[in-house]
Amino acid sequence: MGMERVRTGIDGLDEMLYGGIPKGSTVVVMGSFGTGKTTLGLQFLNQGLAEGEKGVFITLEEDRDSILADAEAHGWDLRGKMNAKQLEIVKLEPNDAKVTIQRIKSELPEFIKKFGASRIVVDSISLLNLLFDTDHDRRANLFNLSQMIKRTGATLLMTAEVKDDNPFASRDGLVEYVADGVISLRYLELLERNELMLSMRIIKMRRTEHSRKITPYSISGKGIEVHVGSEF
Ligand SMILES: Nc1ncnc2c1ncn2[C@@H]1O[C@H](COP(=O)(O)OP(=O)(O)OP(=O)(O)O)[C@@H](O)[C@H]1O
Ligand SMILES: [Mg+2]
Repeated sequence: MGMERVRTGIDGLDEMLYGGIPKGSTVVVMGSFGTGKTTLGLQFLNQGLAEGEKGVFITLEEDRDSILADAEAHGWDLRGKMNAKQLEIVKLEPNDAKVTIQRIKSELPEFIKKFGASRIVVDSISLLNLLFDTDHDRRANLFNLSQMIKRTGATLLMTAEVKDDNPFASRDGLVEYVADGVISLRYLELLERNELMLSMRIIKMRRTEHSRKITPYSISGKGIEVHVGSEF
């Protein structure tokens, strides 16, 4: 029996993943500001919604209206899916650590189980981690959150910011070890062409073969497009 896969909705990325993300995985998409992390998360969610699945978008950065507007800019009608109870957008307050940690521990697991989402996005895990004072607490929360979601069978996509001096490591250096998969989004400065290009790499993906090619991608009104086989 073949492994069940979840299509990201980004054709080139699904091709690089030999069909999609193994179902039930936790995947982190890491990159610096403006590399398309939020867009990729929304596109992944929108694909599930288009396939009739339910999804939850947990945001610590932008508020609900801003997320809906981001999606609309790419032609994805998330508002309609929200009204149809197929999608929920949960805004967590990064400034109110005590209340938010309480919500993450009690309310959120209950909600996710009841809602029956098969795709969950956390944007961003870096801001979520800021709620905790020690690496020990951050690691424990990350582990509990991903285990809780794994038990529901849902596929989890988290976004993460990268270190200033190392674009292959997340800001906290934790999530890439906990996650089953790591996708890196980076700028590439092509000085001879005077252009800033975007490049995607699958650094790890447990339980599947995957491409290791440094692949160009672009962000447009249609969302993210990964140009497999193209040169920079
Ligand atoms: N409708 C659009 N058409 C063309 N490009 C777009 C469109 N929407 C977004 N972009 C591009 O995507 C970028 C923002 O993408 P996104 O918000 O997903 O990045 P991010 O990695 O989440 O950034 P941050 O770390 O700041 O949250 C913009 O800077 C722009 O280059
Ligand atoms: Mg973002």
